[in-house]
Amino acid sequence: MPRDASTPAGARAVTAVAPAKINLHLGVGDVRGDGYHDLLTVYRAVDLWERVTVSLDDADDDSEVVVTGPGAPQVPTDRTNLAARAVDLLREEAGSDARIAIRIHKGVPVAGGMAGGSADAAAALVATDRLLGLGLGRAALEERAARLGSDVPFCIRGGTALGTGRGEKLATLLHARAEQHIVVALADGGLSTPTVFAEFDRLRAERDRLRAERDPADPGRDPADPERGLPRAGGVDPLVAALAGDDPAAVAGLLANDMEAAALSLMPALRRTLRVGREAGALHGMVSGSGPTCLFFCTDRDHAIAVAAEISEHGVAREVRVTRGPVGGAHIVDDPTGK
Ligand code: C5P
Repeated sequence: MPRDASTPAGARAVTAVAPAKINLHLGVGDVRGDGYHDLLTVYRAVDLWERVTVSLDDADDDSEVVVTGPGAPQVPTDRTNLAARAVDLLREEAGSDARIAIRIHKGVPVAGGMAGGSADAAAALVATDRLLGLGLGRAALEERAARLGSDVPFCIRGGTALGTGRGEKLATLLHARAEQHIVVALADGGLSTPTVFAEFDRLRAERDRLRAERDPADPGRDPADPERGLPRAGGVDPLVAALAGDDPAAVAGLLANDMEAAALSLMPALRRTLRVGREAGALHGMVSGSGPTCLFFCTDRDHAIAVAAEISEHGVAREVRVTRGPVGGAHIVDDPTGK
């Protein structure tokens, strides 16, 4: 097979990693015409990573996707896989006919509300850009990322960022540097993001109906009301201000997730997980994004290890991990062997 002209000589395989995200604040507005919800969110990248290797493949059969690590059997290996979509997007844009094999090693819970699939896409974009010698740069990669999913641009950028639009418009919060220690409790099974958004819409419609019955003059029902459609979790200014400091308790007191009620409605067993983590002394416990992973915010690493041990002992999570944030975004790693 003729080698694509844009492929730099010698680069046969490139490996990139991309981090999981959590939402320190996730405010959800009304559903938009395109089916997405307007969001006001504070993203934070945490120290759990997806690893994606893209390699030029001499095989004659279709380019393949191989997935390894926890939860791998639940991840599609056809061209709907988000990493494959990222590779296809850049290859098409480059007019390349290179066969590119994709290997993914999962380090982020699958369907856990931590953007594992989005991290695959982010890592694949960064790696494929290098493999094909495109030199697109961060801004161009983030623009391509937004086409693949709402969380993908953040998985490229990392750190801590304010997200608006459907989550793809980012403003980095440079001052939010204090290290945060978090226990991640994985649930049995996953939740599909669209299903949780649909449950969110149902619960909110129900709440609005009950309010209207109680108070027919409730201004929240007025379609002309400027407050209508705004995220319910409130503003982010106090949280953004607290993130400039170094007080984990102050930050923990300002965390919010509009999606939590919907995730709990679909998976009521999570209430017990949250209760156990809070009783174990976590500063705050909440569902991660659309769930079902639960997060427990702690004062320092020793505290996080103690809380994690308590949660494990109570058997209320499939697996418990200790992590920290913020960490950087997607980047090429030196070790191309995936170890
Ligand atoms: O953007 P992404 O493909 O990751 O989103 C997956 C699904 O989550 C969307 O199809 C939509 O149902 C829902 N979603 C949403 N509003 C957002 C982001 C995602 O309703 N802001």
